[in-house]
Amino acid sequence: MKFFIDTANLAQIKEANDFGILDGVTTNPSLMAKEGIKGSAAVMQHYKTICEMVNGDISAEVISTDFASIVEEGKKLAAIHKNIVVKVPMIKDGIKAIKWFSDNGIKTNCTLIFSAGQAILAAKAGATYISPFIGRIDDSGWDGVELIAQIANIYSIQGFKSEILAASIRNALHIIKCAEAGADVCTCPLDSILGLLKHPLTDIGLAKFLEDAKKFA
Ligand code: G3P
Repeated sequence: MKFFIDTANLAQIKEANDFGILDGVTTNPSLMAKEGIKGSAAVMQHYKTICEMVNGDISAEVISTDFASIVEEGKKLAAIHKNIVVKVPMIKDGIKAIKWFSDNGIKTNCTLIFSAGQAILAAKAGATYISPFIGRIDDSGWDGVELIAQIANIYSIQGFKSEILAASIRNALHIIKCAEAGADVCTCPLDSILGLLKHPLTDIGLAKFLEDAKKFA
């Protein structure tokens, strides 16, 4: 399973990249706004900076919602760097645009997936990645990880090639459950990735080893 970081914060991207396990980055308009980035030139420059920091797929989301504008915006985003993946919302014109990008060699990430039916449509259109939002599904009283497992099963039976990118991850357990359910990628906040390190018996065990090491140092 690939690890992406779900943020537009450069310090967090650097920390995850330096950790040595990072395969890519996902952003969205909310994450960009959180960093105080304003204006299309600044947005484009921010994506470029991320691409220069991380050697992996970098999702940059369109904010257009009609076919022609999504294609125009996506072409500009894709021109920033070879690793840009155009992130497109799960709407009718979005699916049409994903098909166009797929036919024209531009990688896509179909975002805001909340059902198996949406995942099937995105795969049919040729999306490189599809992003089910598992935390938001949990918030609404359904089981987000179950959706990952359902999509993984459908894609395996049908031979769909889109990669399942589990998004809206809230904690380390989500990452483990998504790995178990067949996600190809997890995009996570830095805290959830670092949460995988934690186990009290590791801390207790290391303290004891270091204490015993003093006896022969
Ligand atoms: O990038 C999309 C997704 O990961 C959003 O997560 O926490 O806003 O539901 P969240």
